[in-house]
Amino acid sequence: MNILIIGSGGREHTLAWKIKQSPLVNTIFVAPGNAGTAQIAKNIALDINDFRGIEKLVIEEAIGLVIVGPEEPLVKGISDFFSTTESLKNVKIFGPKKLGATLEGSKDFSKEFMQRHNIPTAKYATFTKTQLTEALNYLDTYSGPYVLKADGLAAGKGVIITSDTTEAKEVMTDMLQNQLFGEASSKVVVEEFLDGIELSMFVVTDGKDYVILPEAKDYKRIGEGDKGLNTGGMGAVSPVPFANDDFKKKVEERIIKPTILGLQKDNIEYVGFIFFGLIKVNGEPLVIEYNVRLGDPETEVVIPRIDSDFVDLILSAVNGTLNKYSIKISTQAASTVMLVAGGYPGEYKKGDEISGLELAENVLPFHAGTTSKGDKIITNGGRVIAMTALGSTIFEALEKSNKAAETVNWKGRNYRRDIGFDLK
Ligand code: AMP
Ligand code: GLY
Repeated sequence: MNILIIGSGGREHTLAWKIKQSPLVNTIFVAPGNAGTAQIAKNIALDINDFRGIEKLVIEEAIGLVIVGPEEPLVKGISDFFSTTESLKNVKIFGPKKLGATLEGSKDFSKEFMQRHNIPTAKYATFTKTQLTEALNYLDTYSGPYVLKADGLAAGKGVIITSDTTEAKEVMTDMLQNQLFGEASSKVVVEEFLDGIELSMFVVTDGKDYVILPEAKDYKRIGEGDKGLNTGGMGAVSPVPFANDDFKKKVEERIIKPTILGLQKDNIEYVGFIFFGLIKVNGEPLVIEYNVRLGDPETEVVIPRIDSDFVDLILSAVNGTLNKYSIKISTQAASTVMLVAGGYPGEYKKGDEISGLELAENVLPFHAGTTSKGDKIITNGGRVIAMTALGSTIFEALEKSNKAAETVNWKGRNYRRDIGFDLK
């Protein structure tokens, strides 16, 4: 079978690497891909939202299965497009339709969903453009910290947390009135602040059954000690020591099962990944957010810990036979350290030549923002390469990730040397 992966990050390189190991796959295509995916698959220069272009590719290359990496095409309805386009009706696509993708595409929708199905999450209130006065009055009813979230997709930037009432009001006004995040902030969700430690869990589901993948913890801040601006993610580990079996059982019973049942009760068809962004508060799990895809860089530690055939897993989901599937998870731990461009997550340069990749030992270097120029590999994004390693513990794995990170270089290259620091 020929398989197409949509996306161009470390997540997609990791998926391609794993799928490559399956005897069920013939040729792997990645659209648009990066210099890493080019080494193991065929990159196709297509925009991830160019559904017509994707249709043409799928037909020309007789692709039998499409796996969607990022949320944007899902929220824009790529899975609906496949099911309503005559030429694509028999092509399998892994990723929810537009309605299911709204779990990530609208914070208000996902909060209502959680409330309706008694899934533990922070208390909240939603305000629209026409309710600015009510929204500002609401902020006066308690003393913060205030968590303000743009309702729609805002490339990971739509959440602002502050303890200052004046600042919260300014942000609220900017979001609702001045379109701080464009259309995405025409509605704002205000949440109770939860004080705890975060982690991520993932399932593959066919809408009826689910398979739980390894959990992960990512490190979002740019600076060591979790300081500074938020990024897409600077590193990750799996497993997560504070997510013991008892805790994971609570997540399954209180969060995963009610979510899958909730989708059924609401008649939301769903075939794809669900990413549960969780927080542990006084030992109990709550949902911070749903995503309808895998995380990045979480994928770079989750996927290498799966021993089973991944294509078989995905096909079981699209064929609705997950109830017969049993996953094998490695006992090895995994870590990843993200090498990023100087200046990221602010302004940064692209096009710098990357050196030392051939010297990086005992790691799986998953490319994120890279491209090829002649026989050179150059930077092509803020997050550039994720150095994944395996070991008997996350700390043993981290030693290898950190050592390899030091070896690979370009002008301005930055990375965090303290991934996992809080778990020792
Ligand atoms: P989200 O996009 O909803 O995942 O929010 C981004 C980040 O903001 C999360 O990963 C948390 O670190 C933080 N955050 C979101 N909601 C809350 C909350 N209710 N309490 C505390 N922190 C939060
Ligand atoms: N690393 C967080 C995310 O993928 O949303």
